[in-house]
Amino acid sequence: GITRHYKFDIKMQNVTRLCHTKGIATVNGQFPGPRIVAREGDRLVVKVANHVQNNITIHWHGIRQLQSGWADGPAYITQCPIQTGQSYVYNFTIVGQRGTLWWHAHISWLRSTLYGPIVILPKRGVHYPFPRPYKEVPVLFGEWWNADPEAVIAQALQTGGGPNVSDAYTINGLPGPLYNCSSKDTFKLNVKPGKTYLLRLINAALNDELFFSIANHTLTVVDVDAVYVKPFETDVIIITPGQTTNVLLKTKPYHPNATFLMMARPYVTGQGTFDNSTVAGILEYNQPPLSTSIKKLPLFKPSLPPLRDTTFVANFTSKLKSLASAQYPANVPQHVDKHFFFTVSLGTNPCPKNQTCQGPTNSTMFAASVNNISFVMPTKALLQAYFLRQSNGVYANDFPSSPLIPFNYTGTPPNNTMVMDETKVVVLPFNTSVELVMQDTSILGAESHPLHLHGFNFFVVGQGFGTFDPKKDPAKFNLVDPVERNTVGVPAGGWVAIRFFTDNPGVWFMHCHFEVHTSWGLKMAWVVPDGKLPNQKLPPPPSDLPKC
Ligand code: C2O
Repeated sequence: GITRHYKFDIKMQNVTRLCHTKGIATVNGQFPGPRIVAREGDRLVVKVANHVQNNITIHWHGIRQLQSGWADGPAYITQCPIQTGQSYVYNFTIVGQRGTLWWHAHISWLRSTLYGPIVILPKRGVHYPFPRPYKEVPVLFGEWWNADPEAVIAQALQTGGGPNVSDAYTINGLPGPLYNCSSKDTFKLNVKPGKTYLLRLINAALNDELFFSIANHTLTVVDVDAVYVKPFETDVIIITPGQTTNVLLKTKPYHPNATFLMMARPYVTGQGTFDNSTVAGILEYNQPPLSTSIKKLPLFKPSLPPLRDTTFVANFTSKLKSLASAQYPANVPQHVDKHFFFTVSLGTNPCPKNQTCQGPTNSTMFAASVNNISFVMPTKALLQAYFLRQSNGVYANDFPSSPLIPFNYTGTPPNNTMVMDETKVVVLPFNTSVELVMQDTSILGAESHPLHLHGFNFFVVGQGFGTFDPKKDPAKFNLVDPVERNTVGVPAGGWVAIRFFTDNPGVWFMHCHFEVHTSWGLKMAWVVPDGKLPNQKLPPPPSDLPKC
């Protein structure tokens, strides 16, 4: 591979959306941010310089970061933030991955404007396991607030209530014609007849899973989270925050004498308020027949599933399978060294004295937890504390492997409402195969949680609704061709089982990719010490690693 250099200058830029102009944090003045393009095996060297008032970090979502944990990016997990006027060079190699990933700020809610695509092409001379597309187009879904998202989450945390919902969804930063004064701000995909396009879909929204569809066109799913899957056709995609999905779009053989909308809107499982608006973009064919003007062409709209169509979501996710071919084997751990059972919950904490709270019962605060632990961000970076053997007072090693208070799904309310605020991690020996079952506990009504693991891909070996049954359910696990990814939706009122192998030393964050749930504590970290061989060790930190 070769080394590719990028410079990310974080700076303010005035942007107008929905007739509302505000200054937002951007990379190089671009919104969404610049595209990173590399090949499998290349080294990326990205110098990030912070010229804004906020502290910044950048995370390379889905990049394995093999032996380069210092470049992973989550604030206070692998690094202290880059302060105003300072810079940090992220330096890492892309090993064994090709497809679509993305980068985003990983501190507070700054990722609402600081995000962009990472396009990883196969090694030179290696082909896709599907017909070569005529063109490739990143399609990023985002969420726009007229207010400053930093103020939105700050207010929510102060009052204990839910944050104000977004004012629009966006495609490549553009809300599209269904919103006020946004017709000009519409993403347009111009295509030629008779060609195949590769759309690299990325859900960069903060708090919403999205359905996506293009009128009168079928999509073929070929890759998720930068891992090839067995291709299948669908009219609608479901994509959680953090996930990426590559689809092939075959255009009509001749100019169809029509224009087509593409639309995205949320899949909803929770009881709270949400932004139920719809973003639309336009699929427009080039070279209309001479007699028609493009303005007069009929416009077709896609039909999207109902907002709460969990059946569609379960069907869609059950179709995702690894290629599991000779060239792209699925190395699913066949035996398990360590079992974990995590409850993931959205619940409440009591209101602190001398404060008025606007949480679910008016006198409580929202809190979210894993195994009844609502993770508290440390003030020093975990990875540094671990590496320098200074974990004392920063974090504890005794994160429970199953809930401290036994979980009973049938209780009303379920019997695990006691949440503790702690900074705890699990230490996993190097070369360990791990099985983790994550169970949604629906303390406040069932809600799905897109769980994202840093530093590893995992295999989704099973999922189901209701309570996980350790006696019956493992017999149904798929250990042959389960989908391999980095972000998985724990179904609302259900469970998901994943397996991964600890071949990567470092401190690895795991959290719900609904940003508000992360803010409320639905997060934890795994610590993997070095292996014995030289190529199993984490090198010392780079000299420019930011200080807290
Ligand atoms: Cu895409 Cu920890 O994040």
